[in-house]
Amino acid sequence: MQKGTYLRNGPGLWHIGNYNFRHLFDGYATLVKLHFENGRLVAGHRQIESEAYKAAKKNKKLCFREFSEVPKPDNFLAYIGDLAKLFSGASLTDNANTGVVNLGDGRVVCLTETQKGSIIIDPETLDTLGKFQYSDSLGGLIHSAHPIVTDTEFLTLLPDLLKPGYLVVRMEPGSNERKVIGRVDCRGGPAPGWVHSFPVTEHYVIVPEMPLRYCAKNLLKAEPTPLYKFEWHPESKGFMHVMCKASGKIAASVEVPLYVTFHFINAYEEKDEEGRVTAVIADCCEHNADTTILEKLRLQNLQSFMGMDVLPDARVGRFIIPLDGSPYGKLEAALDPDEHGKGMDMCSINPKYLGKKYRYAYACGAQRPCAVPSEPFFVARPGATEEDDGVVISMISEKNGDGYALLLDGSTFEEIARAKFPYGLPYGLHGCWVPKK
Ligand SMILES: [Fe+2]
Repeated sequence: MQKGTYLRNGPGLWHIGNYNFRHLFDGYATLVKLHFENGRLVAGHRQIESEAYKAAKKNKKLCFREFSEVPKPDNFLAYIGDLAKLFSGASLTDNANTGVVNLGDGRVVCLTETQKGSIIIDPETLDTLGKFQYSDSLGGLIHSAHPIVTDTEFLTLLPDLLKPGYLVVRMEPGSNERKVIGRVDCRGGPAPGWVHSFPVTEHYVIVPEMPLRYCAKNLLKAEPTPLYKFEWHPESKGFMHVMCKASGKIAASVEVPLYVTFHFINAYEEKDEEGRVTAVIADCCEHNADTTILEKLRLQNLQSFMGMDVLPDARVGRFIIPLDGSPYGKLEAALDPDEHGKGMDMCSINPKYLGKKYRYAYACGAQRPCAVPSEPFFVARPGATEEDDGVVISMISEKNGDGYALLLDGSTFEEIARAKFPYGLPYGLHGCWVPKK
């Protein structure tokens, strides 16, 4: 196995003093590291020192607007001050509790949906080094929690809540300046669709316009409405847009069946015999156009039914987006849920196959009752030539609160090793691999 460190981020602390948070996504970020070297595993974990976390610890109360939680003003004057902060976005959280990415220049950044929640950390010590400041003037409050990061670029989407649409932007290694590739205007609804993630192919960026749309009012207020910062607008329909990475031009914009997805798996270009691109294929973990997952991730639900299957079904959905000017694209199940699992989510691929035709995806599709595995993360074997030649890392949370790191053979799924943690760790979300230099 490669020498290096698997970092995994996720919400991990759900209470301040006696007050307990309500939703999984409210938790303050806990970073976990698994460092592999010479057949040994060294693990560690640490809280990310965001402003929101530090303020909560110091004041023993919630001070920023989290996913479903709002700070309670002490008095009327504080309330008025809060309103001002609400409209400037100053009261939004910077709790970077969703993902962690290894930029091409070696900086490691933890991320969440708010742009201010971009925090640089030290992958060895897990120290919080400071805010990642975007030096451009593109503005906006939010971005995709899952940028596409390679050795040569960082691509992300900036939803435009005022004039519904998305800016597709690129940042180069060593830079803090995002540059606009192009803009997609929304085709339906009062606001852009939620873009937790998006896929790319070799030449295109795919911009999903999901009927689960941002709600600017809820985003700022963070009241525990049924869908939190979002609203379900089936009447606004669902779309997929394809933008040329080089020119910023829209190569396709098609209506597709209603869908709900948080995690795209990968995308690639389908070509004809003469090598012309005829369609873009984009795969995702699709929740059967059902938004209830957000409600089901309330802690009360997760903690009340230990070991039971409390999460709704999700399938591997495949979008087929024609590039011949057709107005419609398709969405179908790429895999049989009875064979491959009904709760498919938290996916990874061999990063060498990003944007290319691929065969293997790793995801959780648990049949409960069982221990809960976190995102299965693929790391290629040094010198590998086959797509599935590598290991899959996951951290498993057991029913009794214990946990262990699990290493599986990427090809056979045989267990290579498991390392029990000396203490239980919270369930986490997304990770990245930092190879040892
Ligand atoms: Fe995610």
